[in-house]
Amino acid sequence: MGAVTSAGAPRRTMADGTAIPVLGLGTWPLDDDGAFEVVEDALRAGYRLVDTAANYGNETGVGRAIRESDVPRDEVFLTTKLPGRQHGRSEALAGLDESLARLGLDYVDLYLIHWPVPTIGRYVETWEALVELRSQGKARSIGVSNFTPAQIDEVVERTGVVPAVNQVELHPEFSQAELRAWHHERGIVTESYSPLGPDTDVLRHPGIAEVAAAHGRTPAQAILRWHVQIGAVPIPKSADPARLRQNLAVFDFELDDVQMAVLDGVNQENRTGGDPETNVEL
Ligand code: A2P
Repeated sequence: MGAVTSAGAPRRTMADGTAIPVLGLGTWPLDDDGAFEVVEDALRAGYRLVDTAANYGNETGVGRAIRESDVPRDEVFLTTKLPGRQHGRSEALAGLDESLARLGLDYVDLYLIHWPVPTIGRYVETWEALVELRSQGKARSIGVSNFTPAQIDEVVERTGVVPAVNQVELHPEFSQAELRAWHHERGIVTESYSPLGPDTDVLRHPGIAEVAAAHGRTPAQAILRWHVQIGAVPIPKSADPARLRQNLAVFDFELDDVQMAVLDGVNQENRTGGDPETNVEL
C-alpha cells in the first residue's frame, strides 16, 4: 500500500456548520468489489469525499474501503442516499440503519433523499425523518438530490430545516445557472453529479480543449476546475487510477474570466439523466 496523500481538495463550511471537501469521488456504477478498489485507491490519492447510495449496490465495498483505510474516519466525508422505495417516516429511519449496517459504520456525513419521486408524494414526511436522523447523530448533515426549488420550498416550509446540499446533474452542457443562483441565495451547496457529462461530447469540445491546453491540463481538469470556480462540488467517478489522480489535481491553476465564459457558453440545456419532476426511481 502506498503512502497516504493528505493534499486533496480544500473544504468549505456549509450552512449547518459542517465542512465539505469541494471535490469528491462518485462511485456509480461500481459494484462492491470495484468500489472497494477504487475508494481504497482514492483515499490513498487524497480524496476525502466519497459519494454512494443504497441504490448503487456498493455500500458494502465503499464502507470496507473506508474502514480498512489508514485515513481516520473523521477525515472522510461520506455521503449515501435514501431510495424511493423507502420514502415515509419509518421507512426512512430504517433505510439509514440498513445503509449503516452495509457500510459497517455508525454515521454518515451526509444523507440525501435520492429522488423526490412526486408520484409517491411522501418526500416532505421523508425529510422530517431525515431531520430526526440528524438529531440522532446518524447523519451529520442532511440534504436532497434531484429536487426542484418548489420541492425544496415545501420541505423547508414544513420543518424550517434547509437542506445543506442539493445534488443534481450538472456539467458544461447542462450548467444549471438558475438553480445554482437559487441555491446560493439560500445557502444550499450545489453538488454536481455526472460532472464530466458522461453521455455528451463535452470532453471532446474544441473550446474546452483549448482552455485546457492553455494550462497544460486535460479537458476533464478544465471542466472540474470550472465546477470549483462556479462554486459547485463535483463528484467525478473514474475506475482508472491515473484519471482518478488527474481529476483531483485541479487546485494549482485557475481559469480566468474569458476561459470561464468559454465553459459557460457550452450550455445547451442537455440533461442526460432523469427529470426530477417525473423520474420514478425506487
Ligand atoms: P473511467 O471510469 O473509465 O475513467 P462522470 O463522473 O461525469 O459521471 O463521468 C464518468 C465517466 O468519465 C466515466 O466513464 C469515466 O470513465 C470517465 N472519466 C473520468 N475521469 C476522466 C478523465 N479524467 N478523462 C476522461 N474520462 C474520464
